[in-house]
Amino acid sequence: MTRAALGVAVGLIAGLLSGCGDSQPTPKPDGKPKPAVASIAHGGQLYDKFWKVSDAPEPTATHPLWATRPDQESNKRVGSDTWRCKECHAWDYRGVDGAYAQGSHKTGFAGLFPSAASAAALTASLADTHGYREAGLSDVDLESLVLFLREGLVDTTKWIDGAGAFRGDAVKGKALYMNGLGGNKSCKACHGLDGLRPPKGAPADYGDFVGLVANKNPVEFLHKLRFGHPGSKMPAAVKGTGSMQDIADLAAFAQSLPKAK
Ligand code: HEC
Ligand code: HEC
Repeated sequence: MTRAALGVAVGLIAGLLSGCGDSQPTPKPDGKPKPAVASIAHGGQLYDKFWKVSDAPEPTATHPLWATRPDQESNKRVGSDTWRCKECHAWDYRGVDGAYAQGSHKTGFAGLFPSAASAAALTASLADTHGYREAGLSDVDLESLVLFLREGLVDTTKWIDGAGAFRGDAVKGKALYMNGLGGNKSCKACHGLDGLRPPKGAPADYGDFVGLVANKNPVEFLHKLRFGHPGSKMPAAVKGTGSMQDIADLAAFAQSLPKAK
């Protein structure tokens, strides 16, 4: 057997094994090697469904801190959803003081501002208090999250007004949407001129159109623009050279796009 054929055979056996028993990690959709070096961009993606961008399996149990949420009534989620940082601390990083102050995502947990904690204290909090080491996050994953917490958080109220509109120049934003933000591949190339084309790899019934997400959930939109959509080819703006103002301009244009076909 050649080396390549052996690799395929081993891969097949691993694939078969991972299909039996709940304790086996689920194979990653992209099958790509995970980053060897920590980065803010990776940390921002881990803030979401971390199992799509790390070797950690999707959790089956509910997060141990979930039972301590100050509001036990509003948010009835169980299982892996309760492990997403955003479910407890929100897309605007402001917890109970921000977009999750009410509604079906409210937990009553605090936000992440202001944080004067040292990198070591943050690492210990995430690895041990939060249980992410046991959940399967690696040192590079934890380091990336700490980088994101120390250098990647933005005050979303600076960029989005009280009515949910981006403080940006939609005319400038249109050019960035069409031509690319900070050297990244353009939104148009993957989402179409009007944001209604399902990107490659999206499910057939795709409905999370650019104009819809930008208007319905501006803070989630801002996070995904900056860090990409976990487990997809969507580029992270923080990896390009675009400024925060460029991102807000692009988002202001995105809010003018149609929300549905
Ligand atoms: C199940 C809910 C929950 C999830 C999920 C969660 N946290 Fe927390 N987080 C908490 C609670 C509770 C505290 C403690 C607040 C306190 O000190 O009383 C906290 C505190 C923090 C703090 C403040 C430092 C500290 O330890 O006091 C940071 C930073 C933080 N979380 C980041 C994150 C990140 C990053 C993730 C995802 C990798 C995450 N959290 C996921 C509930 C959660
Ligand atoms: C290389 C292709 C590519 C580029 C470039 C790209 N995206 Fe995406 N985008 C995707 C893919 C793939 C998804 C995930 C689709 C899915 O859910 O499977 C996605 C998801 C999204 C989502 C939905 C997020 C959600 O919560 O479901 C929004 C909004 C979005 N992109 C906006 C943008 C904007 C704005 C730009 C330009 C700054 C952009 N994308 C650039 C491929 C791309």
